[in-house]
Amino acid sequence: MANNEINFPDKKFIVSKTNLKGRITYGNALFLEMSGYEEKELMGTPHNILRHPDMPKLVFQLLWEYVQSNKEIFAYVKNKTKSGDYYWVYTHVTPSFDGNGKVVGYHSVRRKPKLEALSTIKALYSSLLDAERNGGVAASQKLLDTKLSQLGKTYDEFIFTL
Ligand SMILES: Cc1cc2nc3c(=O)[nH]c(=O)nc-3n(C[C@H](O)[C@H](O)[C@H](O)COP(=O)(O)O)c2cc1C
Repeated sequence: MANNEINFPDKKFIVSKTNLKGRITYGNALFLEMSGYEEKELMGTPHNILRHPDMPKLVFQLLWEYVQSNKEIFAYVKNKTKSGDYYWVYTHVTPSFDGNGKVVGYHSVRRKPKLEALSTIKALYSSLLDAERNGGVAASQKLLDTKLSQLGKTYDEFIFTL
């Protein structure tokens, strides 16, 4: 079984945490269930273990730019399971601070994406991916910037109004 979509359950959340390098330090039960991995396979492993080839590099570049600037980010992500299936999520990623305001890692909560939003996102990601194949991330960044300026929205406004 591979490349089948697994639907995200209603009213549930996937939670995971990473260290500063993006290595997994925590995953809740739904994370294990949806990804198909056992806890011992995930702990200490880079979070890109779930990376799906349909995801544009630009989205993860944005994610890291945001969290490394101490900002939260919301994004739609297609993830690959251990068996090669996939599931779409709407994710919120944020830095975790210690008592002195120092960033000690990152924290992510994911829920079921809205279907209407996904159709826009799938079309966008496919054009970003095409741009990356031809001109690298600089080309997909340019394409995203053009689309956002046509809409008159920032990335955050775009995501929140999908
Ligand atoms: C808290 C946190 C959660 C993440 N969750 C995912 C995820 O669910 N799927 C994913 O592909 N990447 C996730 N990433 C991003 C990965 O660290 C990585 O940047 C991405 O998979 C791209 O991998 P690559 O740079 O090796 O191509 C997450 C990063 C952080 C900090």
